[in-house]
Amino acid sequence: MARLLEGRVALITGAGRGQGLSAAQLFADNGAKLVITDLDSESVDAAVAAIADKGGDAVGSVGDVSKSEDVRAALALAKDRFGGLDILYNNAGIGFSAKQRMGVEMTDLVNCTEEDWDRIIAINLTGVFLMCKYGVPMLTERGGGVVINTASIGGLRGGPSAHAYAVSKAGVIHISRLIARTYGAKKIRANTICPGVIDTDMIHSHMLMSNAARDAISQATPIGRIGTPRDIAELALYLASDAASFITGQAIAIDGGMTA
Ligand SMILES: NC(=O)c1ccc[n+]([C@@H]2O[C@H](COP(=O)([O-])OP(=O)(O)OC[C@H]3O[C@@H](n4cnc5c(N)ncnc54)[C@H](O)[C@@H]3O)[C@@H](O)[C@H]2O)c1
Repeated sequence: MARLLEGRVALITGAGRGQGLSAAQLFADNGAKLVITDLDSESVDAAVAAIADKGGDAVGSVGDVSKSEDVRAALALAKDRFGGLDILYNNAGIGFSAKQRMGVEMTDLVNCTEEDWDRIIAINLTGVFLMCKYGVPMLTERGGGVVINTASIGGLRGGPSAHAYAVSKAGVIHISRLIARTYGAKKIRANTICPGVIDTDMIHSHMLMSNAARDAISQATPIGRIGTPRDIAELALYLASDAASFITGQAIAIDGGMTA
């Protein structure tokens, strides 16, 4: 089978688990060289080892996307280790699981503390800004490239909770549009993936906390099931590849029809 990303260099943020990890594995299977970045060092090491075990080429960078120095260190690794960057996939983000992990609550804007608002915007929106600020020039240096940003269907429409999250994701959608319009002539494409309910740690303790909750969400989804990280990775692979060469500036919902 043709390998869609042969020889390309891709950096994926939040690739230690969930959607980012699935994409890293699929990109490596398709010939990409990977920079795996995440906050969590153990998961970075495990992802790099898993890719190497299958004959792929990956390097890890532990850091926080909301910190400029960590962002620049991860991008520098792409340059030092692989000579540059072709695909920048901003997948890292915090959602419902941030309550257990860091005490950040996903609530409506009246109940959202100022500290939680700042933390959510810093990771989900400023993190994407920083990666694009320092990463897009690396793509233009190579004569073009691809940006994939992860938002959410929550960035496309309103809901009763997770307001700071939804605003951060609406901002991410707009970052992709702005890059598409501003750098299209430099052969940069930028698109946003807007996942629906995807079976990852992010929502295990919230939306998918019981079999009854899983069944209810499956029934409320036209396609009749919850999404998988692989569903998202397949879309990311397509958007990263030349098969998507006329698609840019788009926010693509991948939600089993939930927003239809
Ligand atoms: N799971 C869903 O239902 C769902 C729905 C819509 C959108 N999303 C979005 O999809 C993306 C991937 O989430 P997931 O579902 O794979 O969740 P996940 O929690 O399994 O994975 C997120 C990864 O990002 C990393 N991360 C978190 N904060 C970071 C930071 N500051 N710097 C670097 N890495 C950081 C985590 O360590 C983790 O490995 C996120 O942007 C999320 O908002 C998820």
